Amino acid sequence: MATLLHIDASGRTSRSVSRDLSRRFVEAWASRRPDDRVIRRDLAETPPPLMSEAWIAAAFTPPDRRDAAMRDALAWSDGAIDELAAADLIVLGAPMYNYGMPAALKAWVDQVIRVGRTFSFDLARGDDPIEPTLSGKRLVVLSSRGEFGFREPGPRAARNHLDPHIETVAPYLGVAAADIRTITVEYQEFGDERHAQSRADAEAAVEALVGELAGPSVRGA
Ligand SMILES: Cc1cc2nc3c(=O)[nH]c(=O)nc-3n(C[C@H](O)[C@H](O)[C@H](O)COP(=O)(O)O)c2cc1C
Repeated sequence: MATLLHIDASGRTSRSVSRDLSRRFVEAWASRRPDDRVIRRDLAETPPPLMSEAWIAAAFTPPDRRDAAMRDALAWSDGAIDELAAADLIVLGAPMYNYGMPAALKAWVDQVIRVGRTFSFDLARGDDPIEPTLSGKRLVVLSSRGEFGFREPGPRAARNHLDPHIETVAPYLGVAAADIRTITVEYQEFGDERHAQSRADAEAAVEALVGELAGPSVRGA
């Protein structure tokens, strides 16, 4: 049995393209592998807390020296990291907002990338002291943009800070670069034939990706 962590970050609870794609993915997966477990994390419905003085102080205090207030400051993070650690596959609905990720998604990233939980820090490693501690997960990014041409060599590729950011933080989520798959709808704000085609292509790609990944095991073994 595999565990999926189904995350959505769009502020739109209806009409959201990324939510529609992530729902399609999870439903198609469940129809193939009904015994798999799905953990749901809706970041718009329940936004993560932002980084604070208390959170940072608690995170950088060794666990055996944390007081009750510090443990409380880290409670949301602990829950989100437990969900992440349990997941074999992360299904991430991630719209582009202002050329990057939605603030709620960035807040989730800030909550789950934590010293002692998802990375270790050791100056004995010289100039590369940070090492992710989770591994072996897959990440499926299902995204939508209002404009177009964000993937290389598109005309707006240099403005795309969403996909590169996700790729940069993925190792801290336990995902190697080769295990990221991204399906993107473009032209959403145009609402024209190009958007309809992009969306139809993405829906077909979602079906194909589920067919590819939902084999005998999540790792495709
Ligand atoms: C606050 C906000 C900021 C946006 N910024 C961008 C942007 O920088 N570039 C872009 O191509 N589209 C942008 N869009 C359009 C969204 O990416 C597009 O509507 C997408 O479909 C949103 O995802 P959703 O359908 O899952 O809600 C923005 C939309 C919103 C609401």
